[in-house]
Amino acid sequence: MSDEVNVIVLAAGNGSRMKSKTPKVLHNVAGKVMIDWVLDAVEPLSKNKPIMIVGVGAQRVQEHVGSRSEFVLQAEQLGTGHAVQQAKEHLAESTGVTLIMSGDTPMFQPETLAEFVLEHNRSNNAVTVLTAVTDDPTGYGRIVRADDDTVIKIVEQKDASITERRIQEINTGVYIFDNKLLFEALALVKNNNVQGEYYLPDTLDILRQAGMQIGAYTLQNFTESLGVNDRVALSIANRVMHQRINHQLMVAGVELLDPESTYIDADVVIGPDTIIEGGVTILGRTVIGQNNVITQGSRIVDSTIGNDNVITASHVETAILQNNVTVGPYAHLRPQANLGDDVHVGNFVEIKQATLGSNTKAGHLTYIGNAVVGKDVNIGAGTIFVNYDGVNKFTSTIGDHAFIGSNTKIIAPVDIATEAITAAGSTITDDVPSHAMAIARTRQINKTDFWERMPHKK
Ligand code: UD1
Ligand code: CA
Repeated sequence: MSDEVNVIVLAAGNGSRMKSKTPKVLHNVAGKVMIDWVLDAVEPLSKNKPIMIVGVGAQRVQEHVGSRSEFVLQAEQLGTGHAVQQAKEHLAESTGVTLIMSGDTPMFQPETLAEFVLEHNRSNNAVTVLTAVTDDPTGYGRIVRADDDTVIKIVEQKDASITERRIQEINTGVYIFDNKLLFEALALVKNNNVQGEYYLPDTLDILRQAGMQIGAYTLQNFTESLGVNDRVALSIANRVMHQRINHQLMVAGVELLDPESTYIDADVVIGPDTIIEGGVTILGRTVIGQNNVITQGSRIVDSTIGNDNVITASHVETAILQNNVTVGPYAHLRPQANLGDDVHVGNFVEIKQATLGSNTKAGHLTYIGNAVVGKDVNIGAGTIFVNYDGVNKFTSTIGDHAFIGSNTKIIAPVDIATEAITAAGSTITDDVPSHAMAIARTRQINKTDFWERMPHKK
């Protein structure tokens, strides 16, 4: 026998129990598409690309997976056995082993599958099935064993007798076959069962009856074998995957105060000594450095955050924070907000496509959009960068040390130079030169003895 390992991934079914327009294997688990988790788990096993059986939603699945896999179309979904048979031509020459798993079991870890392959190679089995034991085996195929514990066959839930349904050992849907024997057995599979399908698990009984040795390897941890057939299972997969990610982060030095309510995507990177309160969501390609504090209610997406920052109950989306920045509570950093060292952004401040130089402060109720702001700038409460005329966006610039009075409207495009000042309440439509103060508001008039003319006094 050669030591070649082939991998087949089944992903042609229509996933009807998901009740979704999206093919089942393209649903997300903790920020990573289900089929990508599966590919991550099988890729280390083989030099050859896996062969993916696609059918329902084939085009979308293929577009997503791209060059990570070969594809074989199963035009009609006649069952898992029929699905594997579609790979026959691809593997006709192989004298190695073939590992088969489903695209809807995203929780398997690469080490577990590697151990399973080793276990099979140590045996003389024609096929080894990966099994698990669970209190609630509903929906899974059951492993039927003889009195001496040898595996006899797998029976699907729908075809099982009452006694068989009580069996708590289930088929995880992962198998390794001697490749030649796999296709010999598949040719003999019939569809005389409740679902009228060609079942892959029937090959075990066929091989055993032909005098071959068949075996099972039992997983320690049932949750690894979780099959996502509906949204309930998807929510469990998400929960378990989040627990796994959180565990890894904590082991690496990240402090999670309430991991159960902290949702961190698979590809997020976080440095040690960062403290994250409960009720925080961190998604996408976010990278966070060391020693930050992120409090409850914060949601951070695709952002890059340095060290020693404090983000208090704020939304941060495709933004960059350097170091020692304080944000919030209730700030909204939108795409291309870029905050330098020691910047402070306070409550109800929204920033979009704007750079703030180091030590610049915008403490309260401000909108900064399309702007290049220097360092040590003070932006008073209620300042609005008026960046949009209904058709186009315009950019304004503010030089270092400038002082923007409260409630200034900056009608873009204007250039407020270094160490310039705007008086509170000004509507700035023209450039302000360095060291000048712009006052752009109507003068105050005091009408004397007006109180007596008030209607209530008549
Ligand atoms: C299957 C197993 C069951 C096992 C469970 C583990 C069979 C008959 N049953 O049941 O013993 O406990 O997985 O999760 O194999 N697929 C195709 N083409 C088809 C039918 C299915 O590609 O014609 C694919 C599906 O897209 C899916 C996988 O095969 O990725 C499994 O099919 P599914 O319908 O989910 O089988 P289960 O009922 O979960
Ligand atoms: Ca399934």
